[in-house]
Amino acid sequence: MLKIAVFVSGGGTNLQSLIDECQKGTINGEITLVVSNRLKAYGLERARNAGIKAECIKDQKVLLERLKEEGIDLIVLAGYLAIIGEDLIREYKNRIINIHPSLIPSFAGPGFYGLHVHEAAFKRGVKVAGATVHFVSEEVDGGPIILQQAMDVSAANSPEEMQEMVLLNIEHKILPEAVRLFCDGRLEVIDERVKIVWKEH
Ligand code: GRF
Repeated sequence: MLKIAVFVSGGGTNLQSLIDECQKGTINGEITLVVSNRLKAYGLERARNAGIKAECIKDQKVLLERLKEEGIDLIVLAGYLAIIGEDLIREYKNRIINIHPSLIPSFAGPGFYGLHVHEAAFKRGVKVAGATVHFVSEEVDGGPIILQQAMDVSAANSPEEMQEMVLLNIEHKILPEAVRLFCDGRLEVIDERVKIVWKEH
């Protein structure tokens, strides 16, 4: 059973979808640590309610030490807004997964996070939007793509509505699925592209 650390900065609904799937036994991994760069992040409360260690850590060196102490195998960024340092990315190469609320490369990169993504997409008048799960690299939102899913958002009347549509209908599904595939050893990275491989049980 792999040990998973989840990083959050806000409400943690993506974290909750992972906690629920782990409790249902559909993920071959266990969330043993939740970290936030914000003391008041509600995501930390969700972790405590689920009996998971929850810590506010801002220093990258302390963070790396804690991950090693806990024997963490996989890091999941679930609405985490702090930049991950090079040491951590190097130490956990292709073992850090992030969810981004757009179809990368659209509306991605520096400055595109949280509601800002949907404000830009709504202003552009997109009819289709979605989310992307990818491995983290030094380039913001630039790592190998694991999963993407799109949906019709032409009915959205505001960026907030578009954000909710993508969060509830897509993010809460593809993030647990990507973690499930990782924990089953079914993700291979070849030339910066992710291949989902079949594994006989
Ligand atoms: C999500 O839309 C995520 O893609 C983005 O921030 C939002 C966080 O939502 N990076 P939550 O904290 O998981 O509810």
